[in-house]
Amino acid sequence: MQLLDGKFVSEKIKLQIADEAANFLNDTGRKPHLVAILVGNDGGSETYVASKMKNCEKVGFKSSLYRYDTTVTEAELLDKIAEINKNADVDGLIVQLPLPKHIDPEKVTEAIDHKKDVDGFHPINLGRMMRNLPCFIPATPYGILLMLQEYGINTSGMHCVVVGRSNIVGSPMSILMARNANPGNCTVTLTHSKTKDLKEQVLQADIIIAAIGKKNFITADMVKAGAIVIDVGINREFSTETKSGFKLYGDVDFDKVAPLTSYITPVPGGVGLMTIVGLLKNTLASAKKTIY
Ligand code: GUN
Repeated sequence: MQLLDGKFVSEKIKLQIADEAANFLNDTGRKPHLVAILVGNDGGSETYVASKMKNCEKVGFKSSLYRYDTTVTEAELLDKIAEINKNADVDGLIVQLPLPKHIDPEKVTEAIDHKKDVDGFHPINLGRMMRNLPCFIPATPYGILLMLQEYGINTSGMHCVVVGRSNIVGSPMSILMARNANPGNCTVTLTHSKTKDLKEQVLQADIIIAAIGKKNFITADMVKAGAIVIDVGINREFSTETKSGFKLYGDVDFDKVAPLTSYITPVPGGVGLMTIVGLLKNTLASAKKTIY
């Protein structure tokens, strides 16, 4: 079993991004600029956005955060997005999800200029991804592809079973793993809460991508010997053991599953760190106009 080390890989790629950001500053007199909008104070979202902003600073990007109370109206949010869309000093704009119930996430996602949609959630970017055209790929799936690439894992011909069909991870990941590309060229099964015989499906996998959001959901009896296991879960539980007061758990029962695998990502220290790298790479690509 080999650990897919998100800490090591993310730090390595961030050094490359920092180099490119320095060259960009030299050439243009400005830094790549990511703007985040955060509504409310959900603990997970607070942590993720703080980490995105901190990592921007680390690689020499400019970052701006606009915070709103949960009482913000949809119209106010759409106005702010329209203003940021027009601002030539902004390369990337993300609105952290989830949003309060009175705000339609579809409207918000479509309001973002697809050329600044570094989360890759806009239907134009998702449509272009389906057709293998240049686009912003959603940050978590992008980070997973970078991780597989970094370890030289050739996924061609493998059976990939994705567990979870979210717009953010499971659905785009299933499309990316099936594309004619490497990583890719897999036969993909996309499973979800209504899948019959889930255990039998997952047992067929050469590569399992677990993105269901449930602690220890993937157990040892679901994993074929030698499988590659990518754990996307970030399940937060209160804990007195850590300084933050929280402990993170993946979707995979790591201790029992890891010995069966050829490669596995830990939580924390795996996919989460790679998500940030995906976002930074998209923001840099937007600044350099390499996609649009
Ligand atoms: N909520 C959970 N993951 C993400 C993400 O990658 N981007 C945004 N905007 N919200 C999220």
